[in-house]
Order: sequence, then structure tokens, then C-alpha cells
Amino acid sequence: MSMKIVAIGDVNVDLIASVEDLPKRGRQVITSDFQIHGGGCAANFAFACAKLGAEVKLFGKVGDDLFGRYVLAMLGNNGVDVSNVLLSDEKTGATVAIVQGAERSFITYRGTNATFSISDMNFEELRADLAHLSSFFLLEALQRDYGEIVSSVDSLVSFDPGWDPFGWHPEKLRQLRGILPNIDIFFPNLDEARRITGKRGPQQLIAELLDLGVKTIALKMGKKGSMVSDGKTTTRVAAFDVNAVDTTGAGDVFDAGFVVAYLSGKDLSECAMFANATAALSIGGIGWSAYGTLEDVNDFLVKEL
Ligand SMILES: Nc1ncnc2c1ncn2[C@@H]1O[C@H](COP(=O)(O)OP(=O)(O)OP(=O)(O)O)[C@@H](O)[C@H]1O
Ligand SMILES: [Mg+2]
Repeated sequence: MSMKIVAIGDVNVDLIASVEDLPKRGRQVITSDFQIHGGGCAANFAFACAKLGAEVKLFGKVGDDLFGRYVLAMLGNNGVDVSNVLLSDEKTGATVAIVQGAERSFITYRGTNATFSISDMNFEELRADLAHLSSFFLLEALQRDYGEIVSSVDSLVSFDPGWDPFGWHPEKLRQLRGILPNIDIFFPNLDEARRITGKRGPQQLIAELLDLGVKTIALKMGKKGSMVSDGKTTTRVAAFDVNAVDTTGAGDVFDAGFVVAYLSGKDLSECAMFANATAALSIGGIGWSAYGTLEDVNDFLVKEL
């Protein structure tokens, strides 16, 4: 199986601290666990695709600093082609994740992700079976270029919008809706789909997104699994019952599992089940170390079904 995938978007490090209570203003608390991981939606997606055996190229920008070198080494050592990730003299983006039991709060410094733009990309290098875009709202400069990217690549295009930490301004929403007619596979979660369409129930969300021009939708619903539709058939596929250690990035891993299954010719409900399984495996541990290979996911499916 040889499939070529391109991932375009955010690359950063995640700094993860577990605490019982947040420090009071001006005070200090001690954490018994602190970890540094690679992160960013496009990087998560690329890492997961490479683990599943796809040939994957990442497009993005990091700083020429410790964090940038760390995340590029992690990706490169695991088979992601990082030759199209620009090293800049700005700082690498970082997310500080504060874990309190099952709850996570994030502080994100966008760094190079906010300035990464189409002028940092070599379009010649974009040739692939599928190009994946993510984190529309975080990529402030690239945002303007999404329309041009999705209309000029001749591969399939998948898109995971991500949440808007800036509050879903109508102008940004209008921009996002404008690119949907060029999207082959759209990967919102429930909350995002609700913001984009103004609808509520999964069936209505899917109907509205099809109306907006998306060809295939995989709606992510956390523990409730996913619902997929291409306008002809709509299927709900249950999630696997697993012990969730860390669900951060589960959505990106779901996207990766879905496109790898899709490119290998599986039907939509098989793609959704494979994606649910890939995501379920990844939430059993923290960060990229928990992501599964094709064999891991297939073994998991045999065991769970
Ligand atoms: N607690 C869970 N148990 C089993 N599977 C889960 C759980 N949480 C998430 N998943 C799987 O991961 C997929 C994606 O998760 P979710 O719906 O949270 O997406 P998301 O909101 O885009 O995630 P992210 O936080 O990465 O943006 C789900 O469709 C499901 O298959
Ligand atoms: Mg998501």
C-alpha cells in the first residue's frame, strides 16, 4: 500500500503539567508530573498517518529554537517528511496544558503558526493523493490562503476546522463556509458543526453541511463515536469503550485513521469504524507515543469486535 498524504498547518510543542488545584494568583504549586510532547493538529495528523504506514509530508513553520528542533526530530525520526517545514527566526508555538483530573485547560502561544502563510509553501511539493488542512482559526495568516490552496491542489482535500478560541466572528465563519464546496472530507466535531451551521442535532448538522457543498462529512462526537455521510448514506458508528487517559488530539488521530482507510478503498462506515479505533487506541496514553500502527489498529479491531 502506497499512499501519499500532505498535511498543512500547525506544529508546536505541548507542555503538560498535572495539578490538583491551580496556584492562587502570585503563588506556586508543585506538580508531580511534567511532560513535553510534540503537538499541533497538523503535526498530530501527520504523525498518526506515518504510524499507519502512509507516506506523509508536513507543511508548516517552526522556530529555529529548541522546541522547533525537538518537534522536527520527533516527526522526522518517525517517518514524517519534514523537508517542507520552514525554520524561521520567530519562536515555535507552544501550548501549556494544565491537567486537573479528567479536565484540561490550555494556554496557547501560536508563535510561527500565526505567521505561516502560502508564501512559505512550495506548491510543486503538494502533489499527493490527499491534502489535509487543520486549525483554520489558529493559522491567522494562512486563513486567507485556504481558498487558494483548496482550489489549486488536484488531490482530494480533507479539512478539520478546529475550535475558534477568538469567538467565532461572523466574518471568519463566512470565510470558512466559502471553502466548503472544495472540501472532499470534512471533519468537524459536534460543537464546531453547530457553530458553523447554527443547527443542533447530528442529522440536521449533516444535512446543512451537505447543503454548504461538502462531499463527505465525518462528524466527531467524542465518546459517542462518529456519524458519516456522503449524502447518499448516513451511518452512525459507536465509539469503543476504552479507558481514556488523554483525549487531546483524538480528533486529529481520527482524521488520520479515516483518510488512510478511505484511500485504501474502504466504504464510509468502515472508514468511520477504523477512525474510531485509531482514535480509541491513541487516548490510552499521552501524546504521540500512544498512536498505533496499522497492525496495532487491526489487532485492536479484531479484539474489540
Ligand atoms: N472517551 C472516548 N472513548 C472512546 N473514544 C473516544 C473518546 N473520546 C474520543 N473518542 C474517539 O475520538 C474521536 C474524536 O474525538 P472528539 O469527538 O473529541 O474529536 P475532537 O473534538 O475533534 O477532538 P480534539 O480534542 O482532538 O479536537 C471520536 O469520534 C471517537 O472515535
Ligand atoms: Mg478537533
